[in-house]
Amino acid sequence: MKDFALHILDLAQNSLRAGARFIEIHLVEEVENDLLRVTVEDDGKGIPAGELEKVLDPFYTTRTSRRVGLGLPLFEAAARRSGGGLEVTSTPGRGTRLEATFQLHHWDRPPLGDMAGTLLTLIAANPEVDFLYRQRLNGKEFTFDTREVKAVLEEVPINHPEVLGYLRRELRENLQEE
Ligand SMILES: Nc1ncnc2c1ncn2[C@@H]1O[C@H](COP(=O)(O)OP(=O)(O)O)[C@@H](O)[C@H]1O
Ligand SMILES: [Mg+2]
Repeated sequence: MKDFALHILDLAQNSLRAGARFIEIHLVEEVENDLLRVTVEDDGKGIPAGELEKVLDPFYTTRTSRRVGLGLPLFEAAARRSGGGLEVTSTPGRGTRLEATFQLHHWDRPPLGDMAGTLLTLIAANPEVDFLYRQRLNGKEFTFDTREVKAVLEEVPINHPEVLGYLRRELRENLQEE
């Protein structure tokens, strides 16, 4: 079973493959509704209307390197197992939005996993892309925005090893599940 960090790494890679320059990820609990809502929104090339209904089919992929595309079907299956579901909306030329819900206290609800590792991997390999990550879990809220980091860094690249080391400590400290 995959944790959220691995699912989100996968989903963000779809966005990157679609040419996204900005990816916004939310993982936010609604305690009053016993719900965990996960959204991934990008400004990539989008999904043509005729293909939207196929993206949850495990045998659909626009990749040429592999014949099955499992990222979205596995994420949807995880949401359904936890008493929720997945909705995909997309506007060609504008971007794509995924919204998944999970029952917060469901037995099968995935754990958070190494979200700091996911964000660092994405940032290290895609310094020109911006990421906004917002998490609200166990009553604690944390927001991380690479645009703010870049504004402070000025001309130092965000994937400079010393910057990544600093971000690793900062993210690890703030993104523990407990
Ligand atoms: N954020 C996105 N933007 C544009 N197209 C997407 C996005 N996410 C998924 N897709 C489309 O849906 C297909 C299936 O995605 P996925 O299930 O993750 O499998 P895979 O990435 O292996 O193809 C992709 O090949 C792509 O065509
Ligand atoms: Mg994928």
